[in-house]
Parts: sequence; C-alpha cells; structure tokens
Amino acid sequence: MRQNLLMIYVHIPFCHSKCTFCDWVQAIPTKDLLRKPGDSVRQKYISALCAEIAERGAMHRAAGDIPHVLYWGGGTASSLDEQETAAVMEALHSSFDMSTVAEATIECSPDTVDERKLAFYRGLGFNRVSSGVQSFDDDRLRRLGRRHTAEQAGRIVHAARAAGFEDVSIDIMSGFPDQEADELDRTVDRALELPVNHLSLYSFRPTPGTFMRRRMDSSERRTYLRRQQALFTRARRAIEGFGLSEYANGYFGKVSPFASMYFQHRADTVGLGSGAISLVDQRFKSHQKGLLHSYVDDPLAFDIDVPAGQDRVLVSLLQAGLAMFDGIPREDWRQRTGTDLAEVLLRPTVAPLADFLRGRGLVEDDHGIRLPRDIAGLTLIELAFEMAMSQPELV
Ligand SMILES: C[S@@+](CC[C@H](N)C(=O)[O-])C[C@H]1O[C@@H](n2cnc3c(N)ncnc32)[C@H](O)[C@@H]1O
Ligand code: SF4
Repeated sequence: MRQNLLMIYVHIPFCHSKCTFCDWVQAIPTKDLLRKPGDSVRQKYISALCAEIAERGAMHRAAGDIPHVLYWGGGTASSLDEQETAAVMEALHSSFDMSTVAEATIECSPDTVDERKLAFYRGLGFNRVSSGVQSFDDDRLRRLGRRHTAEQAGRIVHAARAAGFEDVSIDIMSGFPDQEADELDRTVDRALELPVNHLSLYSFRPTPGTFMRRRMDSSERRTYLRRQQALFTRARRAIEGFGLSEYANGYFGKVSPFASMYFQHRADTVGLGSGAISLVDQRFKSHQKGLLHSYVDDPLAFDIDVPAGQDRVLVSLLQAGLAMFDGIPREDWRQRTGTDLAEVLLRPTVAPLADFLRGRGLVEDDHGIRLPRDIAGLTLIELAFEMAMSQPELV
C-alpha cells in the first residue's frame, strides 16, 4: 500500500461582503458569494461538497492515505451556519480516516463568529483558528469593505482562547496604495497586544478584478512597489522585535504543519470544493474558481486536470515553495511533481524566473533551492506585485 501523507483543504465560497482588496474571490459573482444559509444554490453547494468528499475520501481511504492536516478556507469558512458546518464535518469523518489529523484549522472573519460558535468549532474537532483582520483602523476597515470593527476583531481572538483554542492566528495586511507608516504601526501594535501565537502579514497584491486595483494609477507603479517594500520591512521588524520569529515570508510565530505541507509540497493536497486545488499523485487538478453552478452540477468533474510537471503549474509551485526560508527540498519536489528541480529551472518558460531569482541571490545546493531570509520577502513582494500589475485589468 502506498500510504501518502495528506493535507485536506475544504473550500467555502461564501462571505458576508466582497472586500475591496480580496483576490481570493474576485472570480466569484457577488450574488453567489453573498448567498445566505437557506438559499437553494447554497444548499446544493453543501450537498455537492459532501458528495465530492464521499467519493474522494473513499478513494484515499482505500489507498491507505493518511490525513495529517485539515484546513477549511475560502471565502469565509465561518460563514457557514452550524448545521452546514456539521454536515461537511460529518461527511469528512465518514469518508476519510480523520483519526490521524494533527492540526485542524478553520478560517474565520470576525463578523461571522461569536463565543458560542467558537465553542461549537472546538467541539467539532478544530484545534486552530485563523482569523482575517487586515487592519485595526476602523476607517480603513470600512474602506476595505469589512463588516467588523477593530474592537470586534480583538474580542474574537480572546473568545477563541476562552473556547479552548491554544493556536490562534490573525491575518493583517500592509502596502495598500494610500497607506502611511503610522497607520500600519498602529495596526501592528494592536495585533501584538492580542493572545495570538501566529501572525500572517500579507503585502497587498494588486490583482486584476479587485476594486482596489481598479483605483490604482499604473503610472505610479514604482512608487506603489517602493511603498509596499518599505511598509512590509517596517512591520516585520516590529513583529520580530516583539519576539514572534518569521519562519516563512510574512508568517510569524508557531510553525504550522499546514505551512510546510502547503508551501514546500511535503504532502499531497486534496482540495475539496469549487475553488480548491489538488496536487495528488503528481497531477494538478482544480475546478474553475467562481463557477459555483457547474461545480454543483458535477462536483467530481475537474475543469483542469494536468500533470504537475506542466510549466504553468511548476511556476506557481516554485513561487509558493520559496516563501519558506528553508526553501524547496529537491526530494519533496520530485515526489510531488515527478520532475527534477535542476531540469525545471532550465526550461525556456521557467529560465527567466530562475535568472531573476539568481540575480537576487538564490541558493542552489544538494538539499534544494532557497532565497536567503534577508532578501526573500522583498523579492517575493516584487515578483507578486509585478506579475499582478503586468496582467491587464478585467473589464
Ligand atoms: C481567503 S482570505 C480568508 C479570510 C477571511 N475570509 C477574512 O476575510 O477574514 C485569506 C487572507 O488572504 C489575504 N488576502 C486577500 N486578498 C489579498 C490580496 N489581494 N493581497 C494580499 N493578501 C490578500 C487576507 O489577509 C485574507 O485574510
Ligand atoms: S477577505 Fe475574506 S471576507 Fe473579504 S472577500 Fe476575501 S475571503 Fe471574503
């Protein structure tokens, strides 16, 4: 029996608002994103998700695969009500062997949870909460389209601890086009006052289709990038100074096994739901993000099902892997993609990226490849920024 280690990712494509910066849901029509419990399309989505879980879970169980990490993301996983959440969790338990799961995270937004719901999650077996916050400035939160205040975001962290969660993480963002240093300083200070043992700092990616990108003046491109790099550097210095050490680009605190499995491709990823990506048996599979209706019609049909060794897949896996400071191990890369890392870096579509990274100090040795930590952050911000800005704005 092959017995692969698995990461299970469950995608919930619903939110209470469509935030102006968010590039996770820009492909989902707002009408679908905002569907509420009881809505018939939403009910069909939950049934389709449970059907996909049953089919794929049975396959992995028969193969003897071992789930190690469970992660519910989105969208907003906590936008499901208790009944919907319990149905999906029940489907997972009846199909996969969940007894081996060491870490189970639910992604929340502060406007969708309260003390009671957090206690319910704990009872269901989740042992880690990751909450999006983005900013502790109420005016900024309003302009981001968030449905909560800074005070509410802080309260939810305390409530998670009171519900018995020892592992609590929050996301904050830096580098909005009009952001000043003192605003970010205040957000970082408020974040560090909270009882969290993990913090994710994301630099805004100006992805086409987001409201914020539409407001940007492309002739100011250089200024935006310089500001992003300066703000990120400032925030990470403050967070490290506080004692939460950075183990991957923008990830501080207790190392989550999710990060190493996801970024470094240390396990097969089983993505379940309309926007999820799977990397299983050296194949890359996904449903077309945003196409809720076709997913509901046939949750077992993938829109993309290609060898993981295809150039476009490899470029995104490379970028993800370099976020970890210990980089991409050659052996894990070979197992997940069926390709040799050295050969991949020579391919015509990958070589320009490899040259750019070498110009910034990429280390290549017997173990693998990595960006030294002093240059990784700014290099990856530049890469993500330039890739996003070089794509045309959607009309
Ligand atoms: C899938 S979202 C889920 C969070 C949750 N729905 C919430 O909003 O509270 C995960 C995180 O991605 C980050 N994010 C979203 N859009 C981004 C962008 N354009 N650039 C950088 N980070 C982004 C945000 O920090 C967000 O909390
Ligand atoms: S940031 Fe979170 S709540 Fe806002 S649109 Fe994105 S996924 Fe939804």
